[in-house]
Amino acid sequence: MPLETEARAQVRALIGDLKPNDGDLLQALHRIQHEFGWISREAMEVVAEQLALYPSEVYGAATFYSEFRFQPPPAVTVRWCSGPACHLRNGRGIRDAMLATLGLQELGDQTEDGRVGTWLGQCNGTCELAPQVWIEESAHHSSRVVGRLTAAKAVRMARALRDGAGADEVGHD
Ligand code: FES
Repeated sequence: MPLETEARAQVRALIGDLKPNDGDLLQALHRIQHEFGWISREAMEVVAEQLALYPSEVYGAATFYSEFRFQPPPAVTVRWCSGPACHLRNGRGIRDAMLATLGLQELGDQTEDGRVGTWLGQCNGTCELAPQVWIEESAHHSSRVVGRLTAAKAVRMARALRDGAGADEVGHD
C-alpha cells in the first residue's frame, strides 16, 4: 500500500463512509472535486482502495464526465457565457479575442503557468449585461461579472489577468 500522505488522509476522511458495491463511485468523485476543485491521481488511488476497484476503473469513469478536472484549478478562471443574448452581441468575437490574447486554443485550456484558465459557461439570466464573462478566483471562491464587453475590452482584461491582475482589478474601463 502506498505511503499515507496528508493528501491521501484528507481524501480518505472525505470518502471513508462509502462502501464497495454500493454504486458510490460518482459520489466519491463529486465530493473530491467539490472539496479540492480537482481530482488528483493520488485521490483516484484512494477511491479505488476504498471502493475495492482498480485505479483504471476509477480513472475511466472519471474521465467520462466533463465536469471533473484532473489538474489544479488555475488561480483565475474566465467563464465565458455561451447563451443567446451574449451570442447576439458578438460573444464569439469576445471569446476569440480573449483566447488569442491568452495564447490558448479553446475554452477549457489554461495558460502554461497555470494562472489563467477558461471555461464554458451558461446564461445565468443577467442578459442585460451581455456579452459577459464571469471571473472566478479559486483562492477566495469568489466570482464577479464583467459585462458589456467589447473585443478591445476583452483583450485588455485578458492581458491584465495574464500579467497578474486579480479579478477585482479588471473590466472597469
Ligand atoms: S445569454 Fe449571456 S447572460 Fe444571458
